[in-house]
Amino acid sequence: MLPISFTVNDRPTETTCAPGGSLLRLLRSEGWAGVHQVCESGDCGSCTVWVDGQPVHSCLYPALRAQGKAITTIEGVAQDGQLSPMQSAFLDHQGFQCGFCTPGMILSCTALETTDEAEIRAAMDGNMCRCTGYQTIVESVVAAKNGHAQPTPVTTSGVGQSVPKQDGPKIVTGQPIYTGDWAPPATLHMQVLRSPHSHARIRSIDTTKAQALPGVQLVLTHQDVPRIAYSTAGHGEPVPDPHDHYLLDAKLRFVGDRVAAVVADSAAIATRACELIEVDYEVLPAVLDPLQAIGDKLREAWPEDLPVCEHPPLVHDEPESYQIADAAHNISGKVTLGAGDVATGLAEAEIVLTHTYHLPACQHFHLEPHACTTWLDEDGILVVRSSTQVPFYCQNLLCKLFELPKEKVRVYKPNIGGGFGNKQDML
Ligand code: FES
Ligand code: FES
Repeated sequence: MLPISFTVNDRPTETTCAPGGSLLRLLRSEGWAGVHQVCESGDCGSCTVWVDGQPVHSCLYPALRAQGKAITTIEGVAQDGQLSPMQSAFLDHQGFQCGFCTPGMILSCTALETTDEAEIRAAMDGNMCRCTGYQTIVESVVAAKNGHAQPTPVTTSGVGQSVPKQDGPKIVTGQPIYTGDWAPPATLHMQVLRSPHSHARIRSIDTTKAQALPGVQLVLTHQDVPRIAYSTAGHGEPVPDPHDHYLLDAKLRFVGDRVAAVVADSAAIATRACELIEVDYEVLPAVLDPLQAIGDKLREAWPEDLPVCEHPPLVHDEPESYQIADAAHNISGKVTLGAGDVATGLAEAEIVLTHTYHLPACQHFHLEPHACTTWLDEDGILVVRSSTQVPFYCQNLLCKLFELPKEKVRVYKPNIGGGFGNKQDML
């Protein structure tokens, strides 16, 4: 570690940092939680700070270059309790929803020199927002640059008025604390080793070297966890979805599937330990085309004469999984929707358009990482602080997997930086 000194929001700071470490990580380790950690690749802008008055993506800025500089984070933008014109404009125009992008937005937008909407949109290329559609952000910037930011009017009844978000003042000053922004002292970190193969079976797994690494507290593989099939979708009881997941499994079904989990004193140690786990994979054939994956079902499901894969590899050939629509044809679930008499409707239609639409798989994007911190409290209750959208379904599932009564599991969520259904996915 190397010594470094700089100011943050006019506060002199003397600390140490690792060679090659980012300013983002250094600032967060110093407690500046308004500097948000998302992509760490310079794409989202959530980590924006000012260095000597210039906005930078702190995830790409080497911490050592901050030596002697003046750093400003969102927490230091308001002066003597007075919001800056840009903060006031964001508040006035409600230029946020979840607020996770807002610190970076305000710091980047303050540096803009234009009131032209198209130029503002182009200049904000490096700051992403999933919630707002950007319109209210652009309106905020135009208002601030035109000097039209007004204090948000206080509503009395709310009827017939736009009601400002209650936590707006906290959002524009970087005060909300999201899941990843707080942890109890001496929190351990978990890292997951993930499958490099689309379809494989673990012949053997040797964790000896990982367990011997100083700072490693626990290494888990499929041999250490209960084999209980569950659905990762956050739905109520009785859960209608395929029960086709296991905490850890000897069979791997996609690139990125979980192979092992390491708990260590730091995230860096856990990551290094994952690299030391030796896995002997039996790589299995994989079918990557959904039409080929359903085998001879293709003949009845598809109007065109396509080549059929008669014996596709099966993703779920284990007997414990259940509520899979058709495991023998790799069909996980079926949804049937309809309205009225389709045949009559088609017969009466003036034009019948027939086309095949291919939709790519799509993962919802939210700025705040789907993070979780958990601990056993003084009464032996498992407390889970998570950015989940479905705390009660998480509680149900944890009780099932670890055979705990409900009163022994408490799941809650603090501020959430967007979810969009993706955080309905549980474990
Ligand atoms: S975390 Fe720095 S740009 Fe996304
Ligand atoms: S308000 Fe921008 S990501 Fe939620």
